[in-house]
Amino acid sequence: MKRIFITGIAGFIGFHLAKYLKSKNIEVIGIDNFNDYYDVNLKKLRKNILEKENIKVIKLDINEKNELEKLLKENKITHFVNLAAQAGVRYSIENPYAYLRSNIDGFVSVLEVLKDKDIKLIFASSSSVYGDNKKTPFSTLDRTDTPTNLYGATKKANESLAYAYNSMYNTPMIGLRFFTVYGPYGRPDMAYYSFTKDILEKKPIKIFNNGNMQRDFTYIDDIISGIYSSLDYETSFEIFNLGNNKPINLLTFISIIEKRLNIKAIKEFMPFQKGEMLTTFADIENSKNKLNFNPKTSIEKGIDTFISWYEQEMV
Ligand SMILES: NC(=O)c1ccc[n+]([C@@H]2O[C@H](COP(=O)([O-])OP(=O)(O)OC[C@H]3O[C@@H](n4cnc5c(N)ncnc54)[C@H](O)[C@@H]3O)[C@@H](O)[C@H]2O)c1
Repeated sequence: MKRIFITGIAGFIGFHLAKYLKSKNIEVIGIDNFNDYYDVNLKKLRKNILEKENIKVIKLDINEKNELEKLLKENKITHFVNLAAQAGVRYSIENPYAYLRSNIDGFVSVLEVLKDKDIKLIFASSSSVYGDNKKTPFSTLDRTDTPTNLYGATKKANESLAYAYNSMYNTPMIGLRFFTVYGPYGRPDMAYYSFTKDILEKKPIKIFNNGNMQRDFTYIDDIISGIYSSLDYETSFEIFNLGNNKPINLLTFISIIEKRLNIKAIKEFMPFQKGEMLTTFADIENSKNKLNFNPKTSIEKGIDTFISWYEQEMV
């Protein structure tokens, strides 16, 4: 029987994963350090919802190795899903050390805890590892040694660290490169969220690189189905892309939000921001074949669901 441990459970993806697993009658427990990178009330809201469904959410940092050890043992954990991380590209320019603490030190703490155990590790990586790669779509066979920001560099480091621990200790591991995940209970620091909020509040929105950017927006439910399949996928070490495989232009994306809200955005065009990627575009052939990963939510439908949630819960 599977018993799943989720780090970053009060975060956007962790919350949805925990809820989904519970709906499948799978035992799940998780930890989160409830940092204030974005509004802690949203993390508490997610926690309250999970607790109502009898999911245990414990306040703990992944750097607390001894406590982690204890929890894994007490709860007879079979799968460890590491989603805890300092996310965000822009913030890595302001506060680089937050990334080192959670994404490097914290991740090594997870690897150390798992090294002598019969527990499978699934960990979050990111499309950011593709950095300034020019060839699209991005394939897991492509080189990923040119990240364009510290966040991407720490995610690439996670993959290398995981590989090293896998080759030394045989702990089975799967790394999932998520591509711009969006949906209800999403992250306020991400553009789809802040654009919606600002357009509703009639505030100008900043559009970097004059809108000449593309993102492979991937709806949360599709990401969750990919993570779910990876739990049962047998491998020693493998990396997968979880993306929508349909990049869209930033300006087209904004027009979808405008149409749904029936409000014109006040657009402030800005130059290119250092650290950003121009395009993200996932090659998902391998994920389709091995994880049966078939994203099926159109951007119009996904944005509609997100905005309906936002209007109901956040306005
Ligand atoms: N959302 C996306 O578009 C996206 C894209 C690529 C990769 N990812 C990765 O997926 C994972 C989940 O992302 P998310 O969007 O849910 O972000 P999130 O910030 O909502 O969730 C991360 C959670 O981890 C917690 N956390 C951070 N550092 C911690 C630590 N040291 N110990 C314990 N908890 C800690 C935070 O409080 C937060 O609740 C992250 O690893 C992120 O880098 C996300």
